[in-house]
Parts: sequence; structure tokens; C-alpha cells
Amino acid sequence: MFRTLRLSLRFLVPLLLAMVGVAYLSVPLVDSLMQRWFVRDLDIRSSFVARSLEEQVGELLESKSNSRIDALLERATADERLFALGLCDANGRLIRRTHSFPTSIDCSVSRRVGAGAGLVLDLPQGAVHVATAELKRGDETLATLVMLHDMSFVQRRSEDTRKYIVILFTVLGVAVALITIAVAHLSWRGWVAGVRAMLRGEGVIRPFAHPRPELQPLVGDLRALLRDMQNERREQDEIAARWNPETLRHLLHDQFSGDEVILVSNREPYIHVRTAQGVQVQRPASGLVTAVEPVMRACSGTWIAHGGGSADRESSDAAGRVRVPPGDPAYTLRRLWLSKEEEKGYYYGFANEGLWPLCHIAHVRPVFRTEDWDHYHAVNEKFARAVVDEAHSDDPIVLIQDYHFALLPRMVRERLPRATIITFWHIPWPNPESFGICPWRAEIINGLLGSTILGFHTRFHCNNFLQTVDRFVEARIEYESSTVSYGGHLTQVESYPISIAWPVTDTAAETVAAARARIRRILGVDDSHLVGLGVDRLDYTKGIVERMRAVERLLELHPEWTGRFSFVQIAAPSRSSLDEYQRFEAQVRATAAQINARFGDASWQPVRLLVEHHDADSVRAYYRACDVCMVTSLHDGMNLVAKEFVAARDDDRGTLILSQFAGASRELHEALIVNPYHTEQVAEALHRALGMPEHEQRERMASLRQLVRDFSVYRWAGRMLLDAARLRRRERIAARIDEYSESA
Ligand code: G6P
Repeated sequence: MFRTLRLSLRFLVPLLLAMVGVAYLSVPLVDSLMQRWFVRDLDIRSSFVARSLEEQVGELLESKSNSRIDALLERATADERLFALGLCDANGRLIRRTHSFPTSIDCSVSRRVGAGAGLVLDLPQGAVHVATAELKRGDETLATLVMLHDMSFVQRRSEDTRKYIVILFTVLGVAVALITIAVAHLSWRGWVAGVRAMLRGEGVIRPFAHPRPELQPLVGDLRALLRDMQNERREQDEIAARWNPETLRHLLHDQFSGDEVILVSNREPYIHVRTAQGVQVQRPASGLVTAVEPVMRACSGTWIAHGGGSADRESSDAAGRVRVPPGDPAYTLRRLWLSKEEEKGYYYGFANEGLWPLCHIAHVRPVFRTEDWDHYHAVNEKFARAVVDEAHSDDPIVLIQDYHFALLPRMVRERLPRATIITFWHIPWPNPESFGICPWRAEIINGLLGSTILGFHTRFHCNNFLQTVDRFVEARIEYESSTVSYGGHLTQVESYPISIAWPVTDTAAETVAAARARIRRILGVDDSHLVGLGVDRLDYTKGIVERMRAVERLLELHPEWTGRFSFVQIAAPSRSSLDEYQRFEAQVRATAAQINARFGDASWQPVRLLVEHHDADSVRAYYRACDVCMVTSLHDGMNLVAKEFVAARDDDRGTLILSQFAGASRELHEALIVNPYHTEQVAEALHRALGMPEHEQRERMASLRQLVRDFSVYRWAGRMLLDAARLRRRERIAARIDEYSESA
């Protein structure tokens, strides 16, 4: 209200002054115009007076009746305008005059008066209009009549007019000012709302479809800005194939002026473990770590994670910091220590017994305990404090990973409001009905909406999330731009399919042929033996049992593979403290044993189950040695095993069987896509893969490899960072507009 008043006065006062000025300037013009009109009027009146007196005066002059002439002239001047009359003879002598005739005027004045146009004289008694007319009898001029009209009424009228003009312009000024203020106010509000909406990404076109003419220049500027942003995006997309650690580093430097990057995940990238041989460094079996680690190497910064290794404390400094990778340090790992209770409640409990089955819908019931939730909340707080600890500025880039930290984005936002928070949810997001069973659904959504960007692997998961928000919290959702406005803060919800680093660094550097031969030796089979491969954590979402059932069905349907084909399952133990995982491991072992008992003999076993941790090089050797890789997840955010297998096959051979329920199936179309619940279908796909001609393998694999190369994890990170940079710019413009409209 106060602002509107201030704004109004700023418009009103200058406009009023201008109007009054215009009024005063226009008065002389109006004066002279009126004078001319009145003079012309008096010219006409004078000729009319002359005509009406001509005959009578002529006769009286002839009869020399001077007194009657005087009386006639006096009578004529009874008219309030006709001030005085005089008669001049042919010699220019004033022979008769009314009493009012000024002594200062004589007959010579007639020489100054033009024909039909009077003369205005300023006399001491005021301005007079002087006109003359010759009184004739036939051709003879008897006398000249001098007529003086009073012009004081002109002055009176002129003063009145001046007064009215000033009043009129002042009133007009006020009216124009008020209308201008009203229009400007509405336009400004509309414009600001339009720009704000645009900056929020709500329909860029709408507010500017028919811009008001007065806003044209500003709209032009904003359009140019948007064009720049869009071009930038297009260009960046076009260079997708060129994404690498270097481009990522440049991006950070150009768009974020080298701002620090803080990454948070539960699982640490390097685990120090105490073994009989001393402290060893292990890499965890985690898709998340596989993907994100190369990004951190490129960006440097700090990675905050739970220090869960038995030798982690002794391998870090007092603050839990250690430079990694060991031997070639590129960034800092900051370890956070959790108590057994915290780990049990936050990690095993709420994250892995609650959220994991909730989001995967793999027919394992989620378990929600208040105690677990409390630990989850407390551990998220602990990580939030660590983020603030590690941040050297008030606007760091914070990359939050996965379902262990649903509350962290909001907690960081509250502590560092200017931070750019990019949260990535590495697992699926279910539909609102499924998610709705979580007792803390609103808290989780609120937590996640503290992010600047919230990423999922697929558009499908984004839509599920938006619908969940719609169902459970009061937020404004723009489906078109995929943004959620909640509590005055905007979150971009976008799909960023994760990937792996390209090219792959192979420390073992073994050729495909060498790997094939070596692995077959380990398996105790000959070189022509075909090998199928599964690589997973021992997790019920991965479809390991379903896969083994498909191998069994293959042998039933196509007995010609008996003794010619083996299926190797590398299964990394995972979350083994949980009953569900122990039951699952037992089930996997039992299934393998049962199939082997049914089809195998002393020299050949169809299923080779390797329940143990394998390092990256050894897994890569299996990828290169096998003929078919099977990824049959019942539900999976992305599944990077599929992409790792493709990346390992620089010989363009091998076939990928891929579950339609893994995010990767949305990208890797040349794989044999299967429904893991349909055992026969998977068995037939396996049969087809084992017999696939080399040229078909090559065609499919070449195309898969191109995709993984062009859409590497550097592009995944780069796209998120570019989007974040764009949002940061938009927020800055929005803040500037706010500042401007505050001060306006
Ligand atoms: C999935 C999750 C990751 C997790 C990984 C391994 O990929 O999305 O966050 O790190 O599984 O699980 P773990 O519980 O061993 O870290």
C-alpha cells in the first residue's frame, strides 16, 4: 500500500507540474487568438454602425443640424461596446464628437486604419478598437466617421479564459496521472508476475504472447536472454558425445566459477578393511559409487559418507578426512562415524527395510518403525552438520545421493539457503498409492523439495514423484516445465539417466581372447563352451532366482545346451544383517544347488554361484569372457551392470538380456528385452542369444556401445550441473526483479 502511494506520488507530482506548465505556456497563444477574433468581430460591428448612421448623418450634415448630429451620435454610443464616435470633414478636422471621444485622438488616425480592418490602441482608459468609414452622398465624400469600441471586455474575457485553461489543464493532468498510475501499476504487476512465472519455468510463451507496447523493450531483452539459455542448452546437448572429465571441469569453472562441490552418499567410495595381510582398500559393489566416483575425480571437492570399514578410522585424520583415490588423490573423503544403533535404525531399518522395498515393489513388504525413523532423521541431521562443516562458502554445490538422505536437502537448505542442491534418487519412485503407505510420506516429500534439482533415472519415475507430491502435500506443480513450487521455493524435477565413465580404465589390460581363455580355465571348461553371466549384489530386487529358473527352463526346452553352456552368477553379499537378505541368499543357494543337482554331473555344473566380493578388474574379465550377460531385475532404477558389460565389449561381441523393469531398458534398445517374471520368455531369449550369429551380435553391440559412449556419466553430471546453473541464473534475475519492484 505504502509502495503504491509512493509510486503514485512519483507519477502524479511531475505530471501535474508539467500540465500546469503547459497551461501557462498556452495562455499567450489563446490570448492573441481571442484578440484576433474580437478585432474581426468589432470590424464587422463598426461597418454595421457606419451603414446604419450613414444616411441620417448625411442629411443632418447637409442641413447643418449640428445639435441633432451630436444627439444622434450620443444615442448611438448608448451601446455598451461602442465607446465613442467622431466626425471628420474632408480636410481632416474633427467637426463633431461624442463626449466620450478621447482628446488624444484626432482625424489623422483614419490614415492608420486599414480598409475594413480596425486598429487597436492602448489609451489611458484602456484598449480601444478604432475603425473609420467614409460617409458619402453619390460620389462625394461628406465626412469620415471615426468609431471607437471599448475593448476592456476582451481583457476581462481573456482573464476568465486564462483561469479556465489553468483549471482545465490541472484537472486533466490529475486525471491523466491517475489513469497512467493505474495502467502502469497493473502493467508492472502483470509484467513482474509474467517474468516471475517465466523464471519459474511456467510457460515461457504465455506472458509474452501479446506484450504491452510499453514493455516491448524489456520483453525483447528477456526474450534474448531466454534464447541464449535455450541455445546454450542445445549446444551443450549437441556436444553430448564430447562429455569427459575435462568438459565437466570446464563447466564447473565457467558456470559456477569453480565453486566447491560437496557430495553426500551413505556408501563410501573406498573402504579400508583390516585383513590378515594388513589394511586393504576395497571398492564397494554399488552402482551409485561406480557412477559417481569418476565425477568426483573430475570435480574434486569433498565426498561425505559413512565410514563403515573396519580400518577406516585408523586410515583417516582426526576429522575423518582422507585423500582418495589412494595413490592418486583427487578429492577428499570425509568419513562420518555412526554408532551401531544409528546404523541399525537409519541404514538397515528405515532405508533398507522401509524405503528400499517401498520404492522397488519387489513383493517384499516394507517395514516402518518409529525408532528407525528417529534414527534416520538424526543421521540426516548429522550429515547436514557435516555439509555445513565442509562448506567454505554460503553457496556450495551439494550433490545428495539416494534414498538414505530424503530429509537432507531441506536440512541443508535451512542452513545454507543459497546452496545449489542437486539430489539424485538412484532407485525407482513408485506410484502415489504405493508410496502412500509410508507413515512419514509428507516429511520425505518436504525434505526432498529442499533441492534445487531432484533427479530420477526415468521420466516415469519423475511423473510418479510429481503425482505423489500432488496427492500428499499442498504444492504448486507445473507439469509442463516439471517444477514444484513449495513453501516459496522452486524444485526442478527432471530425468537424468545415469551411466558409467567412458572410456573404461582397464588396469588389467587383458585382451578378450585372453580373458575368455583364462575364465574358461577357471571354470574347467573348453574354449568352445558358452558362458552366461549375472553380476549383482545379493538382493531380492535383482531377479537372480528368476534368472536361474530361466536357465533351468532353457535346459528343459533345449537340451542341446546341456554340457555346452554354463551360467556364472557373481553375487556380492549385501545387507546381510537383514533377515530378508539372509533368506534370499539361502533361496539363491538352494535354487542353484537344485538346478545343478538336476542337470549337472561330476564334469559339468550348469550354474556357478560365486557368492563373494569381486573387484572391478575381475568382474570386467568375466564381462569380456562371457557370451551372454543377463540383467533380469524385478525393478531397478537404472542398473549399471548392463552398461558396464557393454562398455567392456570392445570386440563388439556378446549379447545382453535385459529386464523391461530396469531403467536401462529405456535406453538400451538393442538388448534382448524380457519380462523376468516370464520364465519361458527369458529361457527363449537365452536360447536366441546363445545362437545369435556374429554379425547380429556385432550390429547390436556396436549400437549399444555408441549409446553408452555418448551418454556417459560425465554427461549425466554435466546436464544436472547445467540445469542447476540455469536455475541459479533465473533465481538471481528473479531476486533482482524483486529488489527492483521493492524499490519501485
Ligand atoms: C543401490 C543403491 C545405492 C547403494 C547400492 C549398494 O545401488 O541405490 O545407494 O549404495 O545399492 O547398496 P549398499 O546398501 O551396499 O550401499
